[in-house]
Order: sequence, then C-alpha cells, then structure tokens
Amino acid sequence: MRSAKDFFRPLAVGAPAPLREIPWSPSRMIHFFDPSNPKMAAKVPEIATKVDIILGNLEDAIKTENKEAARLGLVEIAKKTDFGQTQLWTRINSLDSPWALDDLTTLVTEIGDKLDVIMVPKVEGAQDIHYVDRILAQLEARAGLTRPILVHAILETAEGMTNVEEICAASPRMQGVSLGPADLAASRRMKTTRVGGGHPGYLVRQDPTGDDLTEGRSTYQQDLWHYTIARMVDACAANDVLPLYGPFCDILDVVACEDQFRNAFLLGCVGAWSLHPVQIDIAKRVFSPDPADVAHAKQVVEAMGDGSGAVMINGKMEDDASCKQCLVMLDLARALAERDPDLAAAYDL
Ligand code: GLV
Ligand code: MG
Repeated sequence: MRSAKDFFRPLAVGAPAPLREIPWSPSRMIHFFDPSNPKMAAKVPEIATKVDIILGNLEDAIKTENKEAARLGLVEIAKKTDFGQTQLWTRINSLDSPWALDDLTTLVTEIGDKLDVIMVPKVEGAQDIHYVDRILAQLEARAGLTRPILVHAILETAEGMTNVEEICAASPRMQGVSLGPADLAASRRMKTTRVGGGHPGYLVRQDPTGDDLTEGRSTYQQDLWHYTIARMVDACAANDVLPLYGPFCDILDVVACEDQFRNAFLLGCVGAWSLHPVQIDIAKRVFSPDPADVAHAKQVVEAMGDGSGAVMINGKMEDDASCKQCLVMLDLARALAERDPDLAAAYDL
C-alpha cells in the first residue's frame, strides 16, 4: 500500500510536484472540436474567446484514418493559438486502443505547457488513473514541465460506475469526472438509443380509478439519469473533484438540452459538454447562478452574520445549513463575476 505522504511526491524523477488542490476556474462548458477538420480548426481561436474550456477531441467521432491527423492538428493549433484564460483540454483515445500511448507522448512532449487537462475515456477503475498518472509524470519530466497536467475521467462503463469513488480518489491529478451517457447506456445494456436526456417510456402511472385500466391515469416521465448523476456528484464532492454532465446529442432540441443541463446543475454539476456552438450559450446560462438566487443568497448571508442562530426572511426560516447553501451559490457567482463583467453587473456583488 502507498503511504499517504507519497501521494504528493512526483511519480517520476524531475516531474513537477502534484497539486494539493485543484485550481478553480470556470468550467460551465467543455466545447469539443475535431482537430483533423480544417474548417473546425480554423474557428478555434474565435470560439476559444466564448467558452470556458476548449477540447481537441481525438477519441470517438474521429475516424480511424484521421486519428493521427487529429493528434498532429491539435499540436499545430495549440502551438499557434493564444487561449487567454480559456483552458485547453484534450480527450485522448481509450487506454485499450492502439493510439492512447502515442496521444499522451506526443501531446505532453509537444504542447504539455499549453494543456491544462487530459480527459481519459472509459475509465474502469483506479488502475486506469494510476497508469495515466505515472506516464504523465515521466513525460512531464522529459518535457521539463513545471506544473502537472490534470486528469478528467469519463464515467461511461458499468465498471467505472461501480468504482467511481476510487476513481475520484486515485490521484491528486484528478480534476473532474464527466458522465458519458451514450457509452454508459451501451455498457449497462440500457434499452435507449438516445444520447442523454429523458425517455418517454421511463415513467410512473397513477393507480386505476375503476375497472377500466386506461381511464384517468396520468403518467409522469421520470429522469433516467438521476441515480447516475447523483452518485457521480457525491463521489466527486467527497474527493474535491468537479462533476460535469457530458453530451446531449439532439442538437436541434435546445429546450430538452437546457432541461438536461439544468437538472445536472441543480444536482451539483458545474458544467456540461457543448458539441455545437448553439449549446455554448445554453450552458453559460444554466451553469451561471440565476441573479434572483444570488440576491436571495446575499440577503440570507448578510442577515445571518456569523452564521449561527436563525432568522426569518420573507416567512422562511434560515439557519446555519441554509446559509451554507447560500454560500455555495455566492462563491460560484463571485468567481464567475471576476471573469465576466455582464455577470458582475447582474449579480451586483
Ligand atoms: C460520451 O463519450 C458518451 O459516451 O456519452
Ligand atoms: Mg463515450
């Protein structure tokens, strides 16, 4: 067994020391692009100004014959683009593919100084994070990097789901976890062909009102992803790791996309993936606290003083616990407002 003290020692001679805390920065949307597609690549500098995180995708959705072009395209884009405060991430190929090792080697040695986070798909357990952790340390040492590259796992296998707590705790590099509803549905053998969102067949029905079993029985659609997201959020929060909802692939259904994102936000997620520019604004709106909630939180925190005791505000009792809920909202609002003058004005903090 590794000693707890070892967790904060580099895993390779010359590698940077592991971080003790994940540095916070806005993570409301991870915008995916295909670095092998010249049209998309050309838009990267402009899109990067509008998003919190931009991610060069090397895994699914990239054709086999384009895998190398995507990797090299990402190197080229990263070298010539100034991303400002926007984070640059990549999603490497899965660890059981023939490309993952070359993805890591090329990207860390060529653009490791620009890459903030490496997203690892189909993570099944702590062993996958340990593997990436050690290789990253070796490559960081080789590249002379002075800060560690962080790791984000996609939760998209039944094994990964079963081991989500140990995945989150596997390394000080663990920055966050995203839900991958498509792969996860397949791995679990769920009988849905949708990528994220609800399903009209997943419902509860009112009891019969008489002999006719079809008469007067309202049905209510339920959330297929509730258990999964809630479990992911708990595992992340317990380990100071950020939870994100993943893809919503019905690009035209912006209304259901907003619903899915909002459910994730309310349950504790900090952001979601955007697969099309239309989803960027949805994520920005949903994952930034509502100004009305911020105003209420401010009122409660001011009225509560040192946080002890209880106060009545508009007929509702507020105490230490509800004050802490308000502080969650205020902390996020303040952090986002620091980067966004429109939010700063809307929140009036
Ligand atoms: C994302 O990668 C998913 O499988 O949903
Ligand atoms: Mg997937």
